[in-house]
Amino acid sequence: MPALLSDTDFRDTHVFIAGGSSGINLGVAHRFAEFGAKLSICSRSAERVEAAVRKLQDHGGDVFGTSADVRDYTQIDQALQEAATRNGPIKTLIAGQAGNFLAPALGMSANGFKTVVDIDLNGSFNVFRAGFDHLVKPGASCIAISAPQAIHAYTFQTHVCAAKAGLDMLCRGLALEWAPVGVRVNTIIPGPIEGTEGMKRLAPTEEMKKHVAKGTPMQRLGQKSEVGDAALFLASPMSAYVTGGNLPVDGGVTLTGASRMNEGMRQAFSSTSQNRA
Ligand code: NAP
Ligand code: COA
Repeated sequence: MPALLSDTDFRDTHVFIAGGSSGINLGVAHRFAEFGAKLSICSRSAERVEAAVRKLQDHGGDVFGTSADVRDYTQIDQALQEAATRNGPIKTLIAGQAGNFLAPALGMSANGFKTVVDIDLNGSFNVFRAGFDHLVKPGASCIAISAPQAIHAYTFQTHVCAAKAGLDMLCRGLALEWAPVGVRVNTIIPGPIEGTEGMKRLAPTEEMKKHVAKGTPMQRLGQKSEVGDAALFLASPMSAYVTGGNLPVDGGVTLTGASRMNEGMRQAFSSTSQNRA
């Protein structure tokens, strides 16, 4: 048993990341690559996947990439099968994909709401359900990337709140059912993370970013690598007895209510092209 995370050997670890072609998930992939893991990533856009694979390879990563939409069970099933054929059984399975836009419930069609629930919640079920047969058993770790919206209600985020709260509960249910076969399931709850699409959509200006940073108890935005470190922990034997948990990597943001963030969301909504109301 390694004494420290830095002693953990990830060289035989195959990590599959749905939504791994950009942002936080690509940051997580970089962190696993630094620790020598074999990686598989997928997302909808083939170009985006190719660019991410090249970036990871430039940093020495052993990476397989394929395009798949998690909303289509056949596509994600095929992506997971191809990844397992190329890189072997999956030790760490990450559902990181998401969709988000600012919209009041009354400014959103039924399809707008459904689209986000399909990507974040139903898509994660598909990733874990299709991935189960390819997992190392016992010993695998499943991780979903959740959000503070799972805990607090945020303005213009009913779709995301519903999807991410459902995601947390989905993971608790899977954790319960899969514990006996040695598969752990946890979520990571990132706070506002610098340089990401999520931040661009929810806090599009420098002023708004500063406002968000100040609203976190730690008074700063998080880094993608910090989410990566939490994923390394949840993938490693250091967390062997941890399942059904929600690990915040959020500078304390989920300890506070959402009121400061909500003020920012209202400003962002009225100032951006996302506003279709
Ligand atoms: P991002 O760069 O847009 O990442 C989302 C990824 O999901 C993209 O690679 C996207 O690629 C993929 N994706 C979207 N729909 C998909 C689908 N139907 N099937 C397969 N892949 C799909 O955004 P991010 O801000 O880094 O967010 C990453 C994760 O962190 C999300 O789960 C988000 O909810 C969570 N999070 C973010 C923040 C933040 O501050 N940014 C805070 C809390 C939680 P394609 O377009 O190629 O499909
Ligand atoms: N306000 C209100 N409704 C919106 C909207 C907005 N800003 N953006 C999209 N919608 C609605 C669309 O109008 C459509 O509903 P309709 O058919 O009734 O008109 C529905 O959402 C689906 O839109 P579409 O563009 O067809 O979906 P898509 O599957 O191509 O893309 C999104 C999914 C909308 C979530 C898109 O923003 C996306 O791909 N996001 C991924 C990246 C991301 O969000 N990253 C941040 C993660 S935190």
